[in-house]
Amino acid sequence: MIIKSIDLLDFRNYEELHLNFDRGITILNGENAQGKTNLLEAVYLAACCRSHRGAKDREMIRFQKDEAHIRMLVQKDNRDIRIDLHLKKDKSRGIAVNGVPLRKTRDYLGLVNCVLFSPEDLQIVKEGPAERRNFIDTELCLLDKIYLNSYMQYKKALEQRNQLLKDISYMPELQDTLDSWDEQLARYGSEIILRREEFISDLSEITKPIHEKLSGGRESLSLVYEKNTEAEKFLQELRKTRDRDLRAKTTGTGPHRDDVSFILKTENQGEEALDARIYGSQGQQRTCALSVKLAEIELVKLRTGDEPVLLLDDVLSELDTLRQQYLLESIKDIQTIITCTGLTEFVSHPFDQSQVYDVEKGRIRKHGE
Ligand SMILES: Nc1ncnc2c1ncn2[C@@H]1O[C@H](COP(=O)(O)OP(=O)(O)O)[C@@H](O)[C@H]1O
Ligand SMILES: [Mg+2]
Repeated sequence: MIIKSIDLLDFRNYEELHLNFDRGITILNGENAQGKTNLLEAVYLAACCRSHRGAKDREMIRFQKDEAHIRMLVQKDNRDIRIDLHLKKDKSRGIAVNGVPLRKTRDYLGLVNCVLFSPEDLQIVKEGPAERRNFIDTELCLLDKIYLNSYMQYKKALEQRNQLLKDISYMPELQDTLDSWDEQLARYGSEIILRREEFISDLSEITKPIHEKLSGGRESLSLVYEKNTEAEKFLQELRKTRDRDLRAKTTGTGPHRDDVSFILKTENQGEEALDARIYGSQGQQRTCALSVKLAEIELVKLRTGDEPVLLLDDVLSELDTLRQQYLLESIKDIQTIITCTGLTEFVSHPFDQSQVYDVEKGRIRKHGE
C-alpha cells in the first residue's frame, strides 16, 4: 500500500496544502513548531481515525476556523482509495471513502495501515505499565476489530463498575447489581487477555532476531506478558476480591492492570536474565524499544498481508549512527515519511534528493527551492 497524496484545509497550522508522495522515503525538514508533526498527525488521522497525540477534533482545526478537511489518496492492491475527513468544531466528524459516507469508524479501520514512531516510543521500556499497555492496545485495536470492540466494552464496563463501587458506599442496596458488571468485565476482559497473549507472543518471536542484530549479537530479548489474571479465572477473581474492591472503591483485578516485561540475556550476565524495565541501561532500554517497534512493522505486514506506511517523527536524531543505519536499512522497502530538524543525520545514507521538503510556518516546498 502507498499513500499518493494528501490535501489539507485549515488543519492545524496548514491553511491549504497539497503534497504528493512517492514510494520510498519522504523527508520533512524544518525548525521546531513549523508543522512537521502536524502533517504526520493528519496522515495518521486519515489512516487510523484518531490523532496519535490524542488530540480532540476541535484542537486540530486551524485557530479561528470552524472546520478542517483532510483528503488522502491511497493505492492498495492496484486500487485507488480516496479518504475524506471532515472535522467540525462542535459536531461529530464526517468520513467518506471513495465518496461514500461511513457511519462507523470501525468499518473503516484496516483500510490503511500505518505505523507511527515518535521519541516517546523509545521510552516505553522505562515508562510505567500504562504506557506499555497503551502501546499494545494501540496496535491491537488497529489490527483486530474484535479486540477493538472488547476493549471499548471493557473500558465502559470498568468505568461503570468503579462508579458503582463508589455509589455502594452510601447506597448498599445497589450491591446486587455488581454481579452483572462482573460478568460483563469477565466476558470482555477474557477476550482482551487471550488476544494480548497471542499478540505479545508473536511480537516477541519477531523481536528476537531484530534485537540480536541491533545489539551486535550480544543480547537476546524476549517480551513476557505479565497478566494480572488468567482469562478463565477472571470472573472468579472478581468475586473473590469484591470486598477489597468495595473498600478501595475501585477494581483491582483485570487486564487494566497488565504489564509487559522486557527480559534480556546478555553476554556479561551469562544465562542470568535481566528485566530491562528495572535494570537495563538507558541505551539497552532504547534499543529494546527500537527492536519492538521494528517488530511491530513486521507484525502488521504479517497480519494484514500489506506493507504499512511508516511515519518517523524526529526519531533519527535520538539514535546513534549504528541504530540510524539499521533503521534506515530495515525500512528501505516501505514507504516512509520522516521528520527532522536538520539533514545532517542523513549524510551517511543515500536518499533520493527529490523527496526532501522544507517545512516552514505551515508551508511545504521542495528542499532548496
Ligand atoms: N489548531 C491549530 N491551529 C493553528 N495552529 C496550530 C494548531 N495547533 C497547533 N498549531 C501550531 O502548530 C505548531 C506546531 O506544529 P508541529 O507540527 O507540532 O511542529 P514541529 O514542526 O516541531 O513538529 C505550533 O506553532 C502551534 O501553534
Ligand atoms: Mg514535531
